[in-house]
Amino acid sequence: MENLKNAHTFSLNASCRSIKTVSTLADLPVNEILHQPYLFLGEGSNTVFVEDYAGFVYINALNGIEVTNNTTHVYLRVGAGENWHKLVSFCLKNGWFGMENLALIPGSVGACPIQNIGAYGLEVDKFIHSVEFISLESGEKAILNKADCLFGYRDSIFKKELMGKVLITHVNFEIPKDNVLETSYGELAALHNPTPLSIYSKVIEIRKNKLPDPNETGNAGSFFKNPIITHERFSLLQLKFPDMPYYVLDNGNVKVPAAWLLDVLKFKGRAFGGVQCHPKQPLVLVNTGRATGDEVLSFAKLIVHDVHEKFGIKLEPEVRLIGKDGLIEL
Ligand code: EPU
Repeated sequence: MENLKNAHTFSLNASCRSIKTVSTLADLPVNEILHQPYLFLGEGSNTVFVEDYAGFVYINALNGIEVTNNTTHVYLRVGAGENWHKLVSFCLKNGWFGMENLALIPGSVGACPIQNIGAYGLEVDKFIHSVEFISLESGEKAILNKADCLFGYRDSIFKKELMGKVLITHVNFEIPKDNVLETSYGELAALHNPTPLSIYSKVIEIRKNKLPDPNETGNAGSFFKNPIITHERFSLLQLKFPDMPYYVLDNGNVKVPAAWLLDVLKFKGRAFGGVQCHPKQPLVLVNTGRATGDEVLSFAKLIVHDVHEKFGIKLEPEVRLIGKDGLIEL
């Protein structure tokens, strides 16, 4: 058995059968994988091991960045094991703009399409051209174009039909040379004459100020997704909670900030054993140092229960919760 504490940023004490690093495709034991319970990890920044996991863990460390370009676009073919923030910084340094809004998001490039990472008005699918992977059933290489990745809010085909069936090897990005900066998010809209560098610096400043650094305090970023409800339901809720912030989506549904719901319920700073709702951003649960998986599950269930009781809204985890036999639901 091997300890997973250092393999996931929530840093719970949990074990698995073994941890193997996959640095080249030759390291990938496709046939072996098929006959055993297994899980792939990047940097473990969105996965919480709430129990000892009975399977094998493989860390995707396929690296490398290839750059090509034409008159209108820059194309990057990036190995799944590259660090996400390093890629954003690399692009900025080279004058390929657009991804600055996603600076400092923890995790690897291979993980970014799975939940379509997003922050400060931007989701990564805007720049994804295609995703390359290996089918773990056939061992064959394959590629999916953006439209076939079925990207949505913190969602993609890799969380649905293809979950657990593929290993993402490369993500292909397409960055327009005349990209327009995304400054719709409040604190970015306030920037005077925004530049890619000022957006990058501001995003880093906001994140450092508001979000706990997983290198210092165990956490996996937002623990829950922002719930999306129908307009009818929202209108009824708004009568009861006129201050509720909201964001109307293109399809008419309404996204409500889960952080606000938790704030109203006074979860901010509240602790349950070794787990705490972060005092500056309640949507982030942190490990104060001695949290157990049971405490994480119990606290998360309490939050889901209280939000449902007060607002009639069912929160869903944004993180991947792993128990003895793999993915578990709350
Ligand atoms: N709010 C409160 N109280 C708080 C904090 C926030 O009421 O203490 C309300 C405010 O109305 C605020 C709103 O919640 O305007 C939204 O807060 P914030 O801008 O901090 O963003 P979020 O919706 O809570 C999402 C992402 C974050 C991303 C930020 C910034 C999800 C689940 N989370 O959080 O992503 O960094 O937007 O764009 O969509 C992550 O996915 O791990 C993550 C950290």
